[in-house]
Amino acid sequence: MKERVLVVDDDALMLDFLVDGLGAEGYEVVQAESVSAAFREMQTSTPDVILSDYQLRDGTAFTLLDWMKSNDVRVPLIVLTGYASIDLAVQAVKNGADQFVPKPIKLEVLTTVLRRTIENNRNQQRYLASKMEQTRNERDPFLGKSKAIQDLKHAALRLAEANSPVLIQGETGTGKGVLARWIYKMGQRSERPFVDLNCAGLSRELLESELFGYQKGAFTGAVNNKIGFLEAANHGTLFLDEIGDMDGSVQPKILKVVEEKRFHRLGDVLERKVDVQILAATHRDLKKLAQEDKFRSDLYFRISTLRLVIPALRDRPEDIPLITDRLLDQLGGEMRRGPLRISDSARRVIQNYSWPGNIRELRNVLERAALLSDDGEIHRTGLELEGAPPGSPGTLKVVLQGTLAEMEEAYIRQCLEEEEGNVVKAAARLGIPRSSLYAKIKQLGL
Ligand SMILES: Nc1ncnc2c1ncn2[C@@H]1O[C@H](COP(=O)(O)OP(=O)(O)OP(=O)(O)O)[C@@H](O)[C@H]1O
Ligand SMILES: [Mg+2]
Repeated sequence: MKERVLVVDDDALMLDFLVDGLGAEGYEVVQAESVSAAFREMQTSTPDVILSDYQLRDGTAFTLLDWMKSNDVRVPLIVLTGYASIDLAVQAVKNGADQFVPKPIKLEVLTTVLRRTIENNRNQQRYLASKMEQTRNERDPFLGKSKAIQDLKHAALRLAEANSPVLIQGETGTGKGVLARWIYKMGQRSERPFVDLNCAGLSRELLESELFGYQKGAFTGAVNNKIGFLEAANHGTLFLDEIGDMDGSVQPKILKVVEEKRFHRLGDVLERKVDVQILAATHRDLKKLAQEDKFRSDLYFRISTLRLVIPALRDRPEDIPLITDRLLDQLGGEMRRGPLRISDSARRVIQNYSWPGNIRELRNVLERAALLSDDGEIHRTGLELEGAPPGSPGTLKVVLQGTLAEMEEAYIRQCLEEEEGNVVKAAARLGIPRSSLYAKIKQLGL
């Protein structure tokens, strides 16, 4: 297939020269004599490379670069100019031009530059594509097929591309940490560091020295210079977990990092620059804290513009089976138990419980049940749920209504269910002989 070159120049002679010359070299050449004509061309088809004069009637080659950026079009651009200067060349590269070629141009030089630019761009695209493929193939750590989670992921993907701070909110155990890492993985900074700092429970002094680092002599015990988490995260991502618990005197310094990308190490006069994307998470109601002056409202406003709220597990019960299976898989591996199974009645209990501690609680409950199980299967009886005596959510509840016979049947069902069909245990709970229970089961067709 012929490579397509879009040539943009307002000089008719130059256009003819390029169209003829490049055409003879085997390129398919499309021409435009102004920036607006080039826009029109690009709306209908995307060239492999653009060759543009710097100064045009209705703009410059940079206008084209800006347009591509804001329209998310990525075509390599080579700037040609009769007014070559170092300044302009530097500016061109800064603006995202791939090459800068001064006029007059020799055709053979130009074709070499063209070929290399196209090749470079191909390699880059291949690299990006393989990286995306790789990420897709890795197991998705943030599970959920509910609409709420699908929407959340969609929004998170867009934020991953931004450089602005993102605030992740959600009840305890909903997976805020997991989501933060996923955003990082999917973003442009995935090859750069990810630094995770939990702000809860750290005194002001410790938090400050961990975060900003210090110079020798900044305080007693500062015997060496030390870089902080912020500097360690440079060009990457800083995850401030439990930001709602961040000491009030540290907050303005974080605001400065967000707004001006500057900070001081403790005890240092030098102001340093840093480039990080900040992801912050909290299970607290930050807005309320700000209203009550327990969190700086300027920082709150700055970090909450881009906000992701993870719904509680009880609000997306359709995700429970999927997450349960994944957790069993993980736990089986971690505990070297091989694949773990789960009984139907245990599944029903899990499905109907309210999970105040969300996925973390689900994981803990499953882990405990797995430890108790000696056949690799999670049983209903192994599930220990907070404030939920056996027979509460999930199992058939015997309600005191209906005829005595109906209540008897319901209660027998419940005991059998809870004992996972173990007739000996169920009979013991019912206080009747095993043979009587067998008779009842037959009679009731259970
Ligand atoms: N979508 C998910 N799929 C599978 N496991 C998950 C998912 N989300 C979270 N987990 C697991 O649940 C547990 C809690 O996750 P995480 O620590 O990210 O929650 P959190 O919201 O940060 O909680 P906290 O508010 O207590 O800090 C972890 O063990 C994590 O591996
Ligand atoms: Mg957390």
